[in-house]
Amino acid sequence: MPRLIYGTAWKKDQTTKLVKSALTHGYRGIDTACQPKHYQEQLVGRAIQNYMDSAKFPREELFIQTKYTSLNGQDPNHIPYDKNASIEEQVKQSIAKSLENLGVTYIDSLVLHGPMRDHLENMKVWREFEKAVDKSEVKQIGVSNFYDLQSLSALYTEARIKPAVVQNRFYRATGFDKALRAWCIKNGVIYQSFWTLSANPEYMAHPSVRKAASELNVTPEQVFFRFVMDLGICPLTGTKSPQHMQDDLAVLDLKLEHENFEAIRKVAGL
Ligand SMILES: NC(=O)c1ccc[n+]([C@@H]2O[C@H](COP(=O)([O-])OP(=O)(O)OC[C@H]3O[C@@H](n4cnc5c(N)ncnc54)[C@H](OP(=O)(O)O)[C@@H]3O)[C@@H](O)[C@H]2O)c1
Repeated sequence: MPRLIYGTAWKKDQTTKLVKSALTHGYRGIDTACQPKHYQEQLVGRAIQNYMDSAKFPREELFIQTKYTSLNGQDPNHIPYDKNASIEEQVKQSIAKSLENLGVTYIDSLVLHGPMRDHLENMKVWREFEKAVDKSEVKQIGVSNFYDLQSLSALYTEARIKPAVVQNRFYRATGFDKALRAWCIKNGVIYQSFWTLSANPEYMAHPSVRKAASELNVTPEQVFFRFVMDLGICPLTGTKSPQHMQDDLAVLDLKLEHENFEAIRKVAGL
């Protein structure tokens, strides 16, 4: 899995152009969802096909992640599966739609967009996810917006194929998922963060982040991304700016001094 993933939410008709630009800049991980309300998955697919054709780029070099979104997360006027079907059937239809939209024969990572109404429903989805892995339609499976460690570990315990990723909002209100992230590390689950910059502007303005940025001659946003990566997190960026696409990728080569890392960690209460 790449250490930084390009997110495709809220890009509307700019999706193809921006995803193609991200791929051209060197992003190899792409995150989307079968949720027309926020993601244009078909336009993501167009960008991927376009890029692979023009750059003669092999599919195996890309990490394509998409999500199954339950009915309550969908726009009632644009539901990408039969709303009257069983949960199991909806998951099957959603996966088929993603494969079609993306123009691929397999998905690298399939994520449950948010917890279902209860554990029983989570497991109904999960059993379909496992079958998709068995059929080689999907390589790995994971969850998103799971902030309750108890329901996450209940799913983990019952799962035949264990979750490989947890994609969560990274912010102060959840204590930055400290206990949940420790659990992920212990169980070999990759924690992906979203809202990494947008939910944490106070850190970008903090003297400890600014000091590190000035020493490294980079921006506070780059320092914060590096800090997050050094915590063992794989962040998503959905930047629309070519400059920021470049800046965010350059973070992979940054080295944050231990002393600066510790200073930021203390400020964030981590
Ligand atoms: N699972 C979920 O429920 C869920 C929810 C939300 C998002 N996501 C995923 O996560 C992806 C990322 O979303 P996000 O909510 O984290 O936010 P985002 O869409 O990446 O927006 C982050 C903000 O940071 C700015 N930014 C990025 N790099 C920067 C840099 N180097 N310097 C200064 N500003 C910078 C962007 O502005 P510019 O455009 O000007 O650079 C943008 O305003 C989404 O596209 C989606 O794939 C998942």
